[in-house]
Amino acid sequence: MPCLLSHNNVVSYLIYCLILVAGVQAWSKEGHIMTCRIAQNLLEPEALHAVKSLLPDNLDGNLSALCVWPDRVRHWYKYRWTSPLHFIDTPDDSCSFDYTRDCHDQHGVKDMCVAGAIQNFTSQLQHYRDGTSDRRYNLTEALLFLSHFMGDIHQPMHCAHTGDEGGNTIDLRWFRHKSNLHHVWDREIILTAMKDYYDNDMNLLQQDIEGNFTDGIWSDDVSHWTDCNTLHTCVTKYATESINIACKWGYKDAEPGVTLADEYFSSRLPFVMKRVAQGGVRLAMILNKVFNHGHQAMTAPT
Ligand SMILES: *[C@@H]1O[C@H](CO)[C@@H](O)[C@H](O)[C@H]1NC(C)=O
Ligand SMILES: *[C@@H]1O[C@H](CO)[C@@H](O)[C@H](O)[C@H]1NC(C)=O
Ligand SMILES: *[C@@H]1O[C@H](CO)[C@@H](O)[C@H](O)[C@H]1NC(C)=O
Ligand SMILES: *[C@@H]1O[C@H](CO)[C@@H](O)[C@H](O)[C@H]1NC(C)=O
Repeated sequence: MPCLLSHNNVVSYLIYCLILVAGVQAWSKEGHIMTCRIAQNLLEPEALHAVKSLLPDNLDGNLSALCVWPDRVRHWYKYRWTSPLHFIDTPDDSCSFDYTRDCHDQHGVKDMCVAGAIQNFTSQLQHYRDGTSDRRYNLTEALLFLSHFMGDIHQPMHCAHTGDEGGNTIDLRWFRHKSNLHHVWDREIILTAMKDYYDNDMNLLQQDIEGNFTDGIWSDDVSHWTDCNTLHTCVTKYATESINIACKWGYKDAEPGVTLADEYFSSRLPFVMKRVAQGGVRLAMILNKVFNHGHQAMTAPT
């Protein structure tokens, strides 16, 4: 439900909106925008052309402008079914991802998780190049969902334990203000980095990330980021990496009520940056394959 102006009292209206905003769970807007910009900069001409033709004309082919759209609509009645597609809940006593065990919604409906959604929307986009677009599917929406969920699956706390809702119920402090563990990984680390090192300029941060995989700390590593044979093994790999980072670095030293500050920030920052980079590089890989006429279709189970 959007913030309705029908509330008769301004204060309760504002509180209501604050609660809604706080309840949004996903890589922050910054994380999604950077993921999509990194991907767009790596698109081959055919994919770039397809992306531009799917986006509304007024955006001038700017994918990142709509990468947060799935977070805006997830509470709307029409899109409520997409809500479970933003994350994966894994069992509290394990630090692994098992597609069959974990990829379902709270009612047990199979494939209703971020890993299933990536496969779903990739398969839908596959029809674009065949010109056999199935009218049941809106390929503009498929592109926006795929781009957004490729960000989410790389946010470690989006593939984390069920009992604490991926860290959402772990209330703690981030330096001087109240936050929760999920939000620390969605946004706080990125915002603190921008403030401390990048003059609050997301462009500078994004350029630093890109520099680190083209000619920097990740440049030897980056060709392996896109290794995986089928879409199913790709998404399984991404989710497994996320829950591993969540266990080793997310939950560690982050008990309810603690204050996280410099030490947590500086040791986790490299992971957050690498996940944004990987999300962008891998989204480009998928879009380049999906829209390339010469490439065989990416296989996804049905
Ligand atoms: C694309 O959209 C993003 C997010 O809205 C915005 O920050 C950026 O300036 C836009 N880029 C261009 C080239 O319009
Ligand atoms: C796939 O997308 C369709 C709508 O385009 C939706 O009905 C279905 O629930 C989606 N499934 C998953 C796993 O995302
Ligand atoms: C596809 O979805 C977009 C975004 O929701 C919408 O603006 C557009 O009208 C839809 N296209 C069709 C053909 O329904
Ligand atoms: C890029 O790599 C340098 C080390 O060469 C590091 O100091 C910096 O934090 C990295 N930036 C990002 C955004 O990962």
